[in-house]
Amino acid sequence: MTVLITGASRGIGRALFDTYARQGNDVVGTCRNAPPGAGRWEPLEVADPASHSDLARRLDGVPLELLVCNAGIYADKGQSLDGGFPAALWASTFAVNVTGVFLTIQALLPNLRAAQNARIAIISSQMASQTQAPGGSYIYRASKAAALNLGRNLAADLRPEGIAVGVYHPGWVVTDMGGQGADISVTEAAEGLVARFAELGPDNTGCFETWDGRALAF
Ligand SMILES: NC(=O)c1ccc[n+]([C@@H]2O[C@H](COP(=O)([O-])OP(=O)(O)OC[C@H]3O[C@@H](n4cnc5c(N)ncnc54)[C@H](OP(=O)(O)O)[C@@H]3O)[C@@H](O)[C@H]2O)c1
Repeated sequence: MTVLITGASRGIGRALFDTYARQGNDVVGTCRNAPPGAGRWEPLEVADPASHSDLARRLDGVPLELLVCNAGIYADKGQSLDGGFPAALWASTFAVNVTGVFLTIQALLPNLRAAQNARIAIISSQMASQTQAPGGSYIYRASKAAALNLGRNLAADLRPEGIAVGVYHPGWVVTDMGGQGADISVTEAAEGLVARFAELGPDNTGCFETWDGRALAF
């Protein structure tokens, strides 16, 4: 199958790219700067609408069985409630984590429609859940909650066309974002997510799950 993964230059996206490539799939990784190594790389700045149009033009006519919206930023870690969380940080984070996800899906809808039973996986976070609210990280939490909301509504709109949409928490993963003290490796996260995406279909479209298959409360 043909799989496209956004933000595949490093971290979880890179591990997903490598896992799908090892399995013999046609993998397209999007990146801002192509990393070393083999594979098909396409430039994509997810916050830039023109970059999405360019990608759509380059992929015109290519059926896409799986789209993984993985690119994301966590820029407000450690910000203070008193005086932190500036408006510019809200805007830049939402441009990547929310608008970026929507524009990616919108740009590649023709490719998904050209495949049989296509699937869309949105990498959100358990921090999107309204039931896990310990405070802090307001921007990241709100952006991931919005990405979850997008996924739920897209699942409803795309169900009649046979396109399933799932929203996932990848685990707390050792990456630049997750840090060295995180719980699991990128390999463990990627293997779990690949198994989850394989189970995504009409019966569970709109799901919100962890990498190891636990349902999360919205
Ligand atoms: N790590 C965790 O514990 C954890 C937990 C929950 C959820 N997540 C989610 O999992 C996803 C991947 O996280 P990660 O830990 O692998 O993060 P990471 O190591 O920081 O990698 C982030 C990826 O997103 C790309 N990216 C960021 N901004 C972009 C933009 N404007 N346009 C295009 N690509 C952009 C980066 O590309 P560049 O190399 O060009 O910067 C990189 O490939 C994110 O959505 C994150 O929120 C991670």
